[in-house]
Amino acid sequence: VHSTEFLKLILPYPLGASVNPRLLEENSSYRALAMNEFTSITAENHMKMALIHPEAMRFDFVKGDEIVAFAKKNKSRVHGHTLVWHNQTAPWMKDFQGDQQAWENLLKNHIQTIMNHYQGQIAGWDVVNEAFLDDGSLRPSIWADHIPDYLAKSFTWAHEADSKAILFYNDYGQDGKPKKMEAILNMVQDFKKRQIPIHGLGLQMHISIQSKNEEIKQVIEQSTATGLHIHFSEVDVAVNPKNNPDFVNDVMSLQAQSNKFHLLFSAFAAIPTKQQYGITFWNVGDKDSWLRGYFKRPKEYPLLFDESYQRKSVYGELYQRLKKK
Ligand code: G3I
Repeated sequence: VHSTEFLKLILPYPLGASVNPRLLEENSSYRALAMNEFTSITAENHMKMALIHPEAMRFDFVKGDEIVAFAKKNKSRVHGHTLVWHNQTAPWMKDFQGDQQAWENLLKNHIQTIMNHYQGQIAGWDVVNEAFLDDGSLRPSIWADHIPDYLAKSFTWAHEADSKAILFYNDYGQDGKPKKMEAILNMVQDFKKRQIPIHGLGLQMHISIQSKNEEIKQVIEQSTATGLHIHFSEVDVAVNPKNNPDFVNDVMSLQAQSNKFHLLFSAFAAIPTKQQYGITFWNVGDKDSWLRGYFKRPKEYPLLFDESYQRKSVYGELYQRLKKK
């Protein structure tokens, strides 16, 4: 595709990426892509508990504010990630001693201070992230350990702080994990019954070329049937999920990846418009993909932009296939 043909321009919903403020500052190609290709921004790490609330009495909004300012300048939407998670909690939280009331005060204060700070600037929040295990049970965490019904309480506190924010439950790997999916749907039903505010489901969509189309489609259909907003919140399509050191990104894997991207975007298009919150990629280019860093998988090419932040062939294919519609 021509360099002036932007995927974002042919989509009726926001197209996003998670970003790292250091790269936004240091790397002009990265910054240009974040500005030109996307209409929504998520902080990859800097709104998470450990980073935004490093000490009991201190919040650190510096990097989060930078991201919000960048988005504002660029007229992008900001998606908030994430208020409550078992992972990347601050060390002081793990050491916290107190009774149930003290834990509830801690979490409520965490959620509401952040949401108050970003009031009116963040469209939607991942209120709770990854709370269920594959078998559908509640994932053990400091929150689950100390606060009964912490999911419902978190959503209630979030809604109290910002009644306009779209409140999401966000999770990964529902495809092929019917128990996990069932737990999420049961939570939604239970919340509706109890009038606990929940407005959206984040489907992370960290998938691979080996993911099963039918399982992905089923998860999307089941999620859509709740009537909530749907966000594909952390999309990447791994081509080398087994971390083969001799992996070559050949025509076959490129084709398979292209098909998976197309599957995600066409399934999203089938969601009723009013439920379409958007599609967000996790990272901008292959080089900064968490799959390379986190899993030490150097031969992984899961995104639409390459090491030098150039559009890959898969970008052009996706554009052409979506434009035809
Ligand atoms: O910043 C420190 C650095 O000072 C230190 O030297 C280095 C040593 O390990 O760690 C650096 O922190 C790392 C941080 O990313 C920033 O790069 C952490 O170790 C590392 O664990 C952290 O990984 C993040 C991961 O969440 C944590 O679970 C990834 O960047 C981030 O992409 C990933 O994002 C998650 C979503 O939030 C939720 N869904 C899954 C997704 C992928 O795991």
